[in-house]
Amino acid sequence: MRPYEAAVQVDDTVRLNANESPRISPIGNFRRPLNRYPEVRPQKLQEALAARFGCSAEQLLVTRGSSEAIDLLIRTFCAAGKDNIVTPTPSFSMYWHYARIQGAAVIEVPTSADNDFTIDIDALLAACTDASRVVFVCSPNNPTGTPLPRADVVKLLRERDQRSAVVVDEAYVEFGEQESMIDMVNEYPNLLVLRTLSKALGFAGARCGAVAGSSDVIKLLNAVQSPYALATPVVECVEDALQAEQLASADTAVKGIISERQRLMTAMASYEFVHKVWPSEANFFLARLSDAGAVMQRCEENSVLLRHFGGDLSDCIRITVGSPSDNDRLLSVLDTLVES
Ligand SMILES: Cc1ncc(COP(=O)(O)O)c(C=O)c1O
Repeated sequence: MRPYEAAVQVDDTVRLNANESPRISPIGNFRRPLNRYPEVRPQKLQEALAARFGCSAEQLLVTRGSSEAIDLLIRTFCAAGKDNIVTPTPSFSMYWHYARIQGAAVIEVPTSADNDFTIDIDALLAACTDASRVVFVCSPNNPTGTPLPRADVVKLLRERDQRSAVVVDEAYVEFGEQESMIDMVNEYPNLLVLRTLSKALGFAGARCGAVAGSSDVIKLLNAVQSPYALATPVVECVEDALQAEQLASADTAVKGIISERQRLMTAMASYEFVHKVWPSEANFFLARLSDAGAVMQRCEENSVLLRHFGGDLSDCIRITVGSPSDNDRLLSVLDTLVES
């Protein structure tokens, strides 16, 4: 695959090469006019995100949320009907979703609540086959909040060298103790790290994320990604969000969420109907309840939405840490369960 060859864009020229309209609409208030196509890849944004995440611009591709990066990775590496991805369970359902669309099989390696959802790296390696092209690990993991130690990722990278891409999904890394693993992309060409602006930065609506890896792999993903993937309003809004002052304010918000997480987890653990609250390094945590269905229902009746999963997690709910007043509201609804 070669990257798409787009019409050349040069500032201050008469642009009659891309079938654009000369009409500039008064709608919106953007620095770049919307009658013109955006850059095929937003260069300035790529450099700003690379600087933020700690890699070079050539080692990073800006994507429409990290979800798009998951799709790109599976489409780039997995042949339909032939290859597979490997991932511990429970984990983020998007890996399954995009694997199914591509016709790639999913090899699941279960972790257990009784073992605090610890990933057994040897079991993960043993589950890989000659057709395993991508191993997805999420750290901290959604929905359990469990981080994966760096030494385990290194073992995966070494053992799967030349055989599988190892994707570390760091959507929630800012909320945890562990450093990002992006620094290892120089050393391990099979490492890909996913980052997003949807969580710590609070820009889920902008749909912006990134995948970092060796420049050769990034070139491949770049060739597969849609040309003009990032719209001008998104590019400008994220450029603004990456200004130092905005980043400092987002960092303060993350600290607030971490402290609220502790308060909420402690309060949750004090209810009799809560059997277990797992430690979490994310902006959510998982709790096991005596009657998860009843808690979900009472919360829903009071316009508080939580997440309930089926299968092995049917007695658990995942609670996202909200603002102090959101969290108070949740606790006041749970208090009514105690009273009844
Ligand atoms: C583990 C994980 N990875 C990736 C994503 C996707 O995030 P986005 O596409 O908004 O960047 C999510 C969203 O919830 C997630 O939980």
